[in-house]
Amino acid sequence: RAKRPAGAPDKKLARPITKVGVIGAGLMASQFALLFVRRLKVPVVITDLDQARVDKGVAYIHDEIATLQSKNRISADEANRLRVLVTGTTDKSLFSDADWVIEAVFEELGVKQSVFAEIEKFVSPEAILATNTSSLSVEQIGSKLAHPERLVGFHFFNPVAVMPLIEVVNTPQTDEVTLATAMVIAGKLRKNAVITRDTSGFVVNRILAKLLGEAMHAVDTGTPFEVVEAAVAPFGLPMTPFELLELVGLTVGAHVLDTHHAAFPDRFFESDNLHKLAEHGKILERDGKGRRTGFDKGALTIV
Ligand code: 3HC
Repeated sequence: RAKRPAGAPDKKLARPITKVGVIGAGLMASQFALLFVRRLKVPVVITDLDQARVDKGVAYIHDEIATLQSKNRISADEANRLRVLVTGTTDKSLFSDADWVIEAVFEELGVKQSVFAEIEKFVSPEAILATNTSSLSVEQIGSKLAHPERLVGFHFFNPVAVMPLIEVVNTPQTDEVTLATAMVIAGKLRKNAVITRDTSGFVVNRILAKLLGEAMHAVDTGTPFEVVEAAVAPFGLPMTPFELLELVGLTVGAHVLDTHHAAFPDRFFESDNLHKLAEHGKILERDGKGRRTGFDKGALTIV
């Protein structure tokens, strides 16, 4: 296989994709599993630790297909075709003929390393592997692989169906076939792909973690949530920092801040309060219709 290129890869080298494997059936994985069936129109197998998790992911995909149909975005025939293409399984042997296998499991290095070391026993030698990690080193995630050259970062953003960007993370090991395949897939998903270096937080989360970390640090040091939101309002962002933290998931958000703090202690804050809020499950109070009514400070000791 060709070595990693200096610039954009030659897309002619991209592997055709006839089947996709998704490891992890949580919200983000389910969202991009649906995008793969919709845009690549190939079978997608989705797996997780147990059948209950798998079933929940598949149920989410079926619900989203029904929503697309109810909005007349897809016909009834298309909805049926999409449902048939999605298989939930705990049987990893169904991954043996997948050409592209992507994971979105818990954001912890050891977990992701084990997932790839295990899946490599099931997939074909030609399969390309991708990780949706948001801030861990892709190279380290692949360090237990026999063939790290076929691993690439493929980082989606919440909500996957709407956000236009994918960060394609090129490690020093990633070869040109792998990179070209990732870029072609991103195009077929109708996303803008940027190739980034394998550095903590890549590009987007490096910038976003700064905003979210500073917002939480202001709260940690006594500034009320309301004041932080009012201060950020002139930037015209579609969501406030606290809404964004809830969107990405408070546990994920706290992990992202910890990872950045560990990589660059002088530049990023970690926040004990964010961990407390993650345990508590929310920052915002909402009414029965999901409309914001205030902040839920129950979990915090400082404000
Ligand atoms: N899941 C799926 N679809 C969603 C959605 C969700 N959670 N939220 C909104 N949508 C869809 C709606 O269904 C609607 O689709 P439609 O046009 O087909 O009906 C469309 O998005 C627009 O939604 P709305 O009109 O209800 O809402 P808004 O105009 O307020 O937009 C938003 C919602 C797109 C989520 C907007 O608030 C936004 O862009 N927020 C910022 C999101 C962001 O910054 N994401 C990046 C997070 S960082 C990350 O993910 C990295 C990770 O590694 C940590």
